[in-house]
Amino acid sequence: MAITAIRGFNDILPGDSDVWRRIEKEAVEVFVGFGFSEIKIPVVERTELFLRSIGQGTDIVEKEMYTFCDRRGESLSLRPEGTASVVRAYIEHRLYERTPVCRLFYSGPMFRYERPQKGRYRQFYQIGAEVLGEKSPKLDAEILQMVLMVLERLGLKDTTLYINSLGCTLCRPPFRNRLIAFLEKKREGLCEDCNRRMGVNPLRVLDCKNSACIEAITDAPSILDSLCDTCREHFSEVRRRLELTGIDYTVNPRMVRGLDYYTRTAFEITSEGLGAQNAIVAGGRYDNLVKELGGPDTPCFGFAMGVERIALVVKDRYRGSVPLTVFIPMGDDAEREGIQIVGILRDRGIRVVVDYRDGSLKGRMRRADRLGARFVIILGEDELRSGVVTLRDMESGLQERVSLDLAVDRIQLELKER
Ligand code: HAM
Repeated sequence: MAITAIRGFNDILPGDSDVWRRIEKEAVEVFVGFGFSEIKIPVVERTELFLRSIGQGTDIVEKEMYTFCDRRGESLSLRPEGTASVVRAYIEHRLYERTPVCRLFYSGPMFRYERPQKGRYRQFYQIGAEVLGEKSPKLDAEILQMVLMVLERLGLKDTTLYINSLGCTLCRPPFRNRLIAFLEKKREGLCEDCNRRMGVNPLRVLDCKNSACIEAITDAPSILDSLCDTCREHFSEVRRRLELTGIDYTVNPRMVRGLDYYTRTAFEITSEGLGAQNAIVAGGRYDNLVKELGGPDTPCFGFAMGVERIALVVKDRYRGSVPLTVFIPMGDDAEREGIQIVGILRDRGIRVVVDYRDGSLKGRMRRADRLGARFVIILGEDELRSGVVTLRDMESGLQERVSLDLAVDRIQLELKER
């Protein structure tokens, strides 16, 4: 029997991979423009890193990690996200000694044992960015502006930005107690998961998607009414800056996020047409994490975008975006001369495939068409003698004999128009 991929682990096939590359290219270009540099982090870390950062009582740590023991018996986990590793690397390599504010981005696969459905997979790709060492609310707004710039470049419309404040170590514990007192009274109306969560992670009850739970907690206390003065001022300033930049947003006091490290600003961006798994970007502030993991007191803000989900929305726009030219040499001399010609085409950024098979020109043209050729360059004995090539535009059907330089110009013009 043929071996298939594991459930929730996908192959990204040609065509789709063009879309992915485009998403990454646009994101990286924007990030670099905002002063970010890339960090490459390992796929596997010590399990303890995730327990201490994402949090013991979270779904990710409780139920979704791919954890195993290596040959020496050490507990390791496939990374379920990138923030923990970036913070670990920041502390381990003392990046704070190099620069007062560190702006890092990363991309790659993450792993969570979730129930697969459209937009939710067990291996999925994130492009993320983290700023370490800046506490100003102006930064929160600037990074949100950067994220929206990436989405705009990708032509993503119909998105909604939700923001919330999750308070700090000063104001969240009293809110948590108020919430527990409220939830105790609603116990019967809450789902089994929420009843369990109440003890370990009561804030998560606020964003349970179960309709009975939503109903039971309609008049739950709002975290925004419990913020201390510093957190309230921080949140107001984020909102002021967003308004100043002309960014639309919706405040959602129920949005609490599934990772424990957040403080103050948290956000999510959703996109229409994705169904239940509609968050395409999410992140926020995590001012205590570096210190909790043994580093200096370092306020941070970051986010991660879900590549699969963005690709689902933009895929029709970017599929197969680089036009292909098929080179058909007719005969041994043309084949030999062709090596140089193909070299020149590729040097000039043209994507070329050589057709090596013999046969009639008609048959070879048909094959070029099936290869998806936008242009075909034919080099026969006649062309060789006259120092030209035959260029065929497969879209218009126009065919002409031109110099190699002119053929290059025509193809490059088409590339530029893309
Ligand atoms: P997150 O909300 O867990 O945050 O994930 C961020 C994004 O990754 C989600 O909005 C979604 O687009 C995508 N994503 C998450 N799980 C899946 C899945 N199973 N299948 C497909 N896509 C998925 C984080 O991971 C934080 N590290 C973000 C962050 C960075 N916060 C601060 N800095």
